[in-house]
Amino acid sequence: MAGSETQAHLPALAEHERKEVGHLLQLTLVELIALSLIGKQLHWNIVGPGFRELHLHLDELTDEWRELSDVVAERAVALGYSPDGRAPAIVEQSELRPVDAGPTQVPKAIRERIERLGDLDLTSQDVLIEVTRTLEKQLWMLRSSL
Ligand SMILES: [Fe+2]
Repeated sequence: MAGSETQAHLPALAEHERKEVGHLLQLTLVELIALSLIGKQLHWNIVGPGFRELHLHLDELTDEWRELSDVVAERAVALGYSPDGRAPAIVEQSELRPVDAGPTQVPKAIRERIERLGDLDLTSQDVLIEVTRTLEKQLWMLRSSL
């Protein structure tokens, strides 16, 4: 638990707001880490026509998911919330199912969090907007290549 001196240097949110925002960021973090694991799994295991292009594309997507997970985790830390990116947290907290989770579910869940963050913390909302913008751009690029 942070001492009162440390608390004084945290962004000006109420303690319960900080916890809720941290929780919403945490849920997004584990999804992004799960996505990056799925991305690598597919990167290694896909076979068939178009292999090379998809193999390389999956690595680009994975890099972007990893970068976003870093932005999300560091926003949580800035709020005084400890993000948990350990393997058990990914298994327990991410609702993504391997491979068939479908990228469409992620923006929907994140959009609900974005709305809630609009009431709590606009700076964290901006982080999740960046996540959504990237995921939707990725979806567009995938759609266009099908
Ligand atoms: Fe590789």
